[in-house]
Parts: sequence; structure tokens; C-alpha cells
Amino acid sequence: MPRVILGFDDAEAVAQYAAREFVRRARSAIEAAGCFRVALAGGHTPRRVYELLADPTFARQVDWEATHIFFGDERAVPPDHPDSNYRTAFETLLSKVKVPEVQVHRMEGERSDLDTAATDYEATLSEVFDLSVESSLPRFDLVMLGMGDDGHTASLFPGTRALEETRAWVVANDVPQKAMRRLTLTVPVLNAARCVMFTVEGEDKAAPLAAVLEGPHDPHRYPSQLIAPVDGELLWLVARDAAARLTREPEDPANSRSPS
Ligand code: 6PG
Repeated sequence: MPRVILGFDDAEAVAQYAAREFVRRARSAIEAAGCFRVALAGGHTPRRVYELLADPTFARQVDWEATHIFFGDERAVPPDHPDSNYRTAFETLLSKVKVPEVQVHRMEGERSDLDTAATDYEATLSEVFDLSVESSLPRFDLVMLGMGDDGHTASLFPGTRALEETRAWVVANDVPQKAMRRLTLTVPVLNAARCVMFTVEGEDKAAPLAAVLEGPHDPHRYPSQLIAPVDGELLWLVARDAAARLTREPEDPANSRSPS
């Protein structure tokens, strides 16, 4: 499935499009399978998307009762910590929409034994996706991702062990760059999704984005290059400042196939 790179004037336009795409995928998944299973992105960039989804204009278009919320990664902090990806999602979205608490699957970054927290999260995935870890992979309807200024995504950082993972669905990854361990979904799970949607903004992302999208294949240096859905769509939503170093002009969303 080809990747689609869409260009937007600014961060707000990226967020608006991403929120519409979330709604569109939620509706088609619930229509087709009766439920929507999404992995939320961490970091700062998705905050505005979550705020929009909490706005009644968007919120009323999603059947939150049929939605399962997962996380792509989490920092080794408690859920009320300012750095917690769960806290960001809770404050901007989950506390404002009617998604059943039991369908919000938080990664327990505060646990002392993060390796067990990782396998416990795999057990939750296999339960909700009705799979056994040995058989096939959980197939998210939508995975939301950001990209760091070093080309990392989720908590798949350059040169870290998690980049090599081919069997586990979730791992605790040592990230010396952040002097901490992090929980993260692995590449096989991310690439099993029906759709992976990156949102990228900020001039600090221009050089790594050009390297990831147009540079030589060097995933150990730019882990975002590892994201290539096996049988799914890859959407890059990029703001003009982040796209400043691209040699090929991103597509105009107005002309793209997706009516978001
Ligand atoms: C995290 C994220 C990470 C994030 C990038 C971009 O927990 O930090 O999952 O992969 O998406 O670091 O972060 P910003 O959006 O804050 O630039």
C-alpha cells in the first residue's frame, strides 16, 4: 500500500484533518466489525487532535461505547505525572467523551518491573483482539504516531534494542537518550495496522523528516523508516514548517483520495 504524504499550512490544519480521519476510520471500523481499536500517539503534537475529538462537533460522530483506546508507548512515570502520555490523553480527550473506562487500556509506566508490565499489556491486547500471542498480530484500525527530532517514533529510538524485536508485541525499551526505560508497541504490531497516521509539525522536524522520507534507508538512525504497514495505509500529515526540507512537494489534501 503506497504511503501518502499530505502537506498543510500549519499545525491546526494538520490537527483538523487528523481528527476527521480518526472519525472516518472509527465509523468505518464500527460499521464493519462493531468496534474501533485505536492506538494513541504520545508527545505534544497530538494534543490538539485530542482536544478537537473532545469537541461535540467531532465527539458526537464517534460511537465511544464501541471504541477501545490503546497507547503506542508510555514513559516510565505514574499516570498523573506531567510526562505521562496517558495523562495527556485523559486531560484532553478521555475525560470528556463516553468511552467506557474498561476500554481504555493504559500502559503501566509506573511499575518497577516494566518487562512484566509489557507482557501484561500483550495479554490485554490478545484479550481485546481475541488472539494468542503465538498466532497472528493484533491489527489496529488506526495507529497514531508522532516523530521525534531524531527520527524516532513511539518509543523506538535510534540504536535501541526494541528496533530489532520481531516476536514481542510490546517491550520495555532502554532509551539512553532519555536516561529512562519506556514501554512501546513493536514494529511488527505497528505494521500490522489497517492505517498508520503520522502527524508532524515544527521546524525542528524538517531535517529528520527529509531524512526519513527522502534519505537513504537507515532505520537504525531513523526508526520512523521502519513503519511500513504490511497490508494497510501509511499517512503522513505534515505541516509546512516540518516539510521545509522535502524536495518533493507533499500532496494537497484537497486532491487526496481521502475525503477527510
Ligand atoms: C513519546 C511519543 C514520541 C513522540 C515524538 C514526538 O512518548 O514521546 O510517543 O514518539 O511522538 O517524540 O513528540 P512531540 O510531538 O512532542 O514532538
